[in-house]
Amino acid sequence: MKICMVGAGYVGLVSAACFSDFGWTVTCVDKDPNRLADLKAGRSPIYEPGLDDLLERNIKAGRLVFTEKLGPAVADADVVFLAVGTPMRRGDGYADLSYVFSAVEEAAPHFNGFTVVTTKSTVPVGTSREIERRLKAKRPDADVAICSNPEFLREGSAIQDFTHPDRVLVGTDDDRARDVMERLYKPLALRGSPVMFVERESAELAKYAANAFLALKISFINEIADLCESVGADVQQVASAIGKDRRIGDKFLHPGPGYGGSCFPKDVSALIRTAREARAPVSIIEQVERVNHERKLAMAIRVVEAAGGSVRNKTIAVLGLTFKPNTDDMRDAPSLVIVPMLQERGATIRACDPQGRRHAEPLLPGIVWCDSADQAAEGADVLVVVTEWNEYRALNLEALKARMTGNTIVDLRNVFDADAVRELGLSYSGIGRGR
Ligand code: UGA
Repeated sequence: MKICMVGAGYVGLVSAACFSDFGWTVTCVDKDPNRLADLKAGRSPIYEPGLDDLLERNIKAGRLVFTEKLGPAVADADVVFLAVGTPMRRGDGYADLSYVFSAVEEAAPHFNGFTVVTTKSTVPVGTSREIERRLKAKRPDADVAICSNPEFLREGSAIQDFTHPDRVLVGTDDDRARDVMERLYKPLALRGSPVMFVERESAELAKYAANAFLALKISFINEIADLCESVGADVQQVASAIGKDRRIGDKFLHPGPGYGGSCFPKDVSALIRTAREARAPVSIIEQVERVNHERKLAMAIRVVEAAGGSVRNKTIAVLGLTFKPNTDDMRDAPSLVIVPMLQERGATIRACDPQGRRHAEPLLPGIVWCDSADQAAEGADVLVVVTEWNEYRALNLEALKARMTGNTIVDLRNVFDADAVRELGLSYSGIGRGR
């Protein structure tokens, strides 16, 4: 089976690497010369655990090739995946499909024999039909079937998620395409992952509905956390109690500074726009978006309050800046709201992040960059955990305290044991811990 992966971003690159590891021949096409230079040299342009090894192994085996030339890769392919970006469009919050459509236009002259063309990027309902319409107009003779095959992997555990998915979802109304996709995903089906075939519109909408539902769970538990603080309950106990009910499930019930990343904010916004346009507004999801926006602002205020009502001329140590651990991705990270708010109020920020500095530095000017939590704590009045990197869980808090000027810890991810922190004579503020 020959695959052409258009786009070597997060989803495209991880999918290309994993498909080639199944034994398929994959040509991954990207326009960004820097990215291509890295990839051709076997270097991953993104930080993702395990990806370097996978790239090296499959490039060496000749199963994974990177190129800027779309035409020959399309002509040779059984399946063309469209994995280009669909960012949030400035102004109206809708998904920007210009990269998808220009890839389709560029690919059109090159189809050769029966080819499955499938979206892998998250695209609004109706996109498969629109791609079909455009292709028919441009190449009425082309023997192509358009599918939707949304990807559900998470950054930081992308390879595990791709190779052990809860389900593979394929939207198609073409039997030949179904056969091809069945063959393509056979390695996963044999391992026990269900491969589901549905209508194209259902596949497209399911991706948005899944992300919106997960975002809803997070906003829900964040509000319950606030309630816990007011009534003397502990959100971790509440979350694990409700999570035992299998109808609810215990995943995505960790309270924090609000969700970020390249997917939830963009997909929630796009779903809201799609639903309004279809005159079937998803008012509950509109509220999720509002709650999440306010959450990030409220977390900055929480730090100000923990610092005694003002951070003017105070030093704040910030541990973790990326939107979540095990990634260098800063897109829509809560730190992008929290840090500037503290700076505006006169605080000096000393920050560290195991992987995020390269992307964070241009986005967060005026920070004193530190290599470690210990260094960040030096002379700090308040220490704030914004991202739950594992290495922060086992920090020697006594040593940290000795380096700090103040004695306040604000733990926006609940990584520390509240009682143990307080026993050290530190003032501790976690999330949703009402005691
Ligand atoms: C998310 C989905 O989880 C994937 O299934 C999906 O494929 C992906 O979006 C996508 O559409 O491409 P990702 O953005 O990589 O994946 O990260 P998540 O692990 O879902 O975390 C998203 C945000 O929610 C992070 O800011 C995280 O800190 C926050 N979060 C997550 C919480 O605050 N609490 C939780 O319990 C879980």
